[in-house]
Amino acid sequence: MIRLLVLDSGVGGLTVLDEIRRARPDAEVLYVADDAFFPYGALAEDALVARVVELAAGLCEEWRPDAVVIACNTASTLVLDPLRARLSVPVVGTVPAIKPAAAASQSKRFSVLATPGTAARDYTRALIAAHAAGCDVTLVAAPALAAHAEAELAGTPVPDETLAAAIAPCFVARNGTRTDAVVLACTHYPLLAARFAGLAPWPVAWLDPAPAIARRVVSLLGDADGSAPAGSGTIRFTSGRAPGAPLARALEARALAFAHR
Ligand code: DGL
Repeated sequence: MIRLLVLDSGVGGLTVLDEIRRARPDAEVLYVADDAFFPYGALAEDALVARVVELAAGLCEEWRPDAVVIACNTASTLVLDPLRARLSVPVVGTVPAIKPAAAASQSKRFSVLATPGTAARDYTRALIAAHAAGCDVTLVAAPALAAHAEAELAGTPVPDETLAAAIAPCFVARNGTRTDAVVLACTHYPLLAARFAGLAPWPVAWLDPAPAIARRVVSLLGDADGSAPAGSGTIRFTSGRAPGAPLARALEARALAFAHR
């Protein structure tokens, strides 16, 4: 049995939790949705670092996890070093799947769909420079998509036109080649992946970093003991809100019990 703290600004990190659960069904998970500070993508850099480090440090003291998973690209672009300096347990971050996209793209033209924070960071640009040489990369900042993903899971999906307009800049046709891959560089976006695929002007590969994060957890903490009982999970919202019925069903489907604190 391992204990994991999984942290995001909202329910996006559930897409990461799903993969971790597949890899380590025995994990006991505390999932914290820091919705009091949602969206992280709009926070100033200093404010984001201070918030996530304080929150994670307090939760580690209280809950003593074996590892912390920052299931959020926006936070991971800034907080991993300060968090590792502060915590004594391993910290697993979320890295946009730029390297896999460069490898998967046949046309060598791919897009990175991200929050405004992630799109603006040197961290993201450095990943593109290091891993996507020879590719034409379009970086798309989507100010409202994480909120649209929250709405989807809360049972109030946004209209097709709104989503189609948000993903449209990802699709580039130039000099006889077209975008053939889109990096989902926010953990909220895989919650909308089926809708994106239905609205895309042409088919592309949609790349989600969650399986790689689960592999990293396994490489740090080992494989599940096949005989161990299934782990339990708890979710907390830092705003103190209680989930409405559709979200409560989505949480129940993930065997996450809601706790006020
Ligand atoms: N889920 C987060 C990410 O991966 C961010 C959403 C937000 O802006 O809070 O970037």
